Amino acid sequence: MSHETTVAPATGADVLNLALLINSAYRGQGNIAGWTNEVGLLAGKRTDDDALNAALQTARTTLLLMRRKADQALLGCISVEPLADATWYISLLAIDPRVQNFGYGRHLMAEAEKFARSCGAQTARITVIKQRETLVAWYERRGYRQTGDVLPFPYSDPSVGAPLRDDLQLLVLEKPITGSPDIVEGNDLTDDGTAKGKDATITSRSARWAAPVLAALVLSYWGAQSHAEQLSSAQLNRGQYLVEFGGCNDCHTPGYFFGKPDMARYLAGSDVGFEIPEVGIFVGPNLTPDKETGLGSWSREEIITAMQTGVRPDGRVLSKIMPWPAFAKLTKADVSAIADYLQSLPSISSKVPGPFGPDEKPSIFVMALRPPANATP
Ligand code: HEC
Repeated sequence: MSHETTVAPATGADVLNLALLINSAYRGQGNIAGWTNEVGLLAGKRTDDDALNAALQTARTTLLLMRRKADQALLGCISVEPLADATWYISLLAIDPRVQNFGYGRHLMAEAEKFARSCGAQTARITVIKQRETLVAWYERRGYRQTGDVLPFPYSDPSVGAPLRDDLQLLVLEKPITGSPDIVEGNDLTDDGTAKGKDATITSRSARWAAPVLAALVLSYWGAQSHAEQLSSAQLNRGQYLVEFGGCNDCHTPGYFFGKPDMARYLAGSDVGFEIPEVGIFVGPNLTPDKETGLGSWSREEIITAMQTGVRPDGRVLSKIMPWPAFAKLTKADVSAIADYLQSLPSISSKVPGPFGPDEKPSIFVMALRPPANATP
């Protein structure tokens, strides 16, 4: 398969695709071990289209798009803008999660540096949320060094989402970009891609990048947001609307069957099991993105599959008390909106018991079908 790509500045017409790309780059994130920590850092919403339009209309900012040469499919984007003193600011590196193993992120980064250099830049600057240590280390392997400057997180700027902690800070990292394209010392994530040609065509041959690293390829506090903010609020609102209509709360929130749903543990798993005679007792599990006890290690596709076919990632078919046969009729767009919404929930650690076999003693309240006294089997 060929990985030939082109890199060129974005235009207004690209905004929609670009928003999709960025959203999916973030959505992929929750599914790859080690890169879910943003979820605990920031919540809230963000309107990508507006932000992207604003960025595109700012003459200073250039958004570079990487496309596959063969079909012009959008693979990635990155933003470059001049600051002062021959220093350029690089941000918003995002790679389509489906192609995150081919070295595209690194190439796009190199293209952005090359672009800035061709405009007279001598230094590239990035900012990374200090708490994202693994990401900081990744950039250090790309030749960026911490300047020692720490910027306050822009808590007062609503467009960066709703921070969940009050100790977020932005580290400033810089890299000299005067010479020829760099060979980074101690780079344990080398790839074999080589930039060639004046038309910014890049060929990448190797897939030696660590996928988890690429999953989180985003710079600046734009990139430091959880995937939730990167989704358009319309999509999340739609998901929330469908979750409410779908009655997920009834069977997946504790307290619901006692008349008092515990909204602080919304969708974090029921406290009542359903007994299916001769089959067992099933409890609505935790649907929040907690890794250990919820859906945190499930991909968006896996959530969709479970909801529409009943098949869990481990192959077990869910009891039909979970109304998956009905959800099978949801459109792809609707079920995707539900999955996105579930992945945007705050993660709550809460493990439901079960499922219990027909002869097991449940450790939980149970709703059961009981035959009437005069019933004859
Ligand atoms: C009538 C009760 C009920 C309703 C309504 C319901 N569920 Fe469930 N759900 C369950 C039960 C019970 C299970 C566990 C079944 C099993 O273990 O076989 C389950 C399992 C699941 C699972 C698999 C989780 C896992 O860890 O195995 C997902 C995902 C899920 N439900 C999502 C939803 C969503 C989203 C909605 C609303 C659109 C919803 N459910 C509505 C009862 C329900």
